[in-house]
Amino acid sequence: MSPLSKWLTLSGRRIAAACVRQHASLTTELIENMDKKATWDRFYAESSSKTTSFKNFEWFFGFDAVQDFIMSLLQTKPHPDAVLQVLDMGCGTSALGPCIYKHSPLPVRVTCADISPIAVRLMQEDVLARAIQPQNLSSQLEFVELDCTQLHKHYSPHSVDLIVDKGTTDALLRSKEGKGKAGLVLKQCLKVLRSSGSLLQFSDEDPDARLLWLETEAQEQGVMAADVGVQEVGELRGVCYYCYQVTPRPRV
Ligand SMILES: C[S@@+](CC[C@H](N)C(=O)[O-])C[C@H]1O[C@@H](n2cnc3c(N)ncnc32)[C@H](O)[C@@H]1O
Repeated sequence: MSPLSKWLTLSGRRIAAACVRQHASLTTELIENMDKKATWDRFYAESSSKTTSFKNFEWFFGFDAVQDFIMSLLQTKPHPDAVLQVLDMGCGTSALGPCIYKHSPLPVRVTCADISPIAVRLMQEDVLARAIQPQNLSSQLEFVELDCTQLHKHYSPHSVDLIVDKGTTDALLRSKEGKGKAGLVLKQCLKVLRSSGSLLQFSDEDPDARLLWLETEAQEQGVMAADVGVQEVGELRGVCYYCYQVTPRPRV
């Protein structure tokens, strides 16, 4: 069961007391709407109202499970003065972005972006309260409310070194009206990534389906604009997870 299904099921139980049939349709309704800001605002508002102290919510798994995939791509700078630009796309209230900021030996500017202003505010408050010390004193961490189908409003073309996406494209692809948005997000990523940059998608989707989708969506006028690869992250609670790496092809 996905984390959202679990939350939706728990949240739905209260409604179920009143009407079992309506509960089932509400849960389905919300699962089908994971591309909508309102769904996530409600999710983060309800999750935070249940505790007095903030706790990061991790989709699938946390930083420890994927840090080798991420940190191996932050070992070199495009030029000596560069600060590596990293985007956690659809960050939610995950600790992934703050962990990259904390552990990167090279200077990074980590932008944690989400469509939900509630998630963004919770993260800002938590980071202010915890005052995380980065390994590199030139590193920066910021949180922005941003619809990632419009990355071009925040980034110049070819300016980002690494984009991490843990569950965001999955949420869009699984929604009734989200598939087009998932394609737009991928195209925006390819626009803002440097030629030396990468997009990492962490997902439980089977490679047969995701690689085909990526290869189809990464085409520009019939020409492949990116190379696509996959590695296994591992198995957790009986589910196999993957890391899909998308790297822009040099433009001719
Ligand atoms: C499955 S959750 C993953 C959250 C987080 N990455 C994690 O690992 O816990 C998907 C996230 O994508 C965000 N999201 C959905 N559509 C978005 C969009 N168009 N732009 C930015 N964020 C979006 C949601 O608000 C939600 O926080």
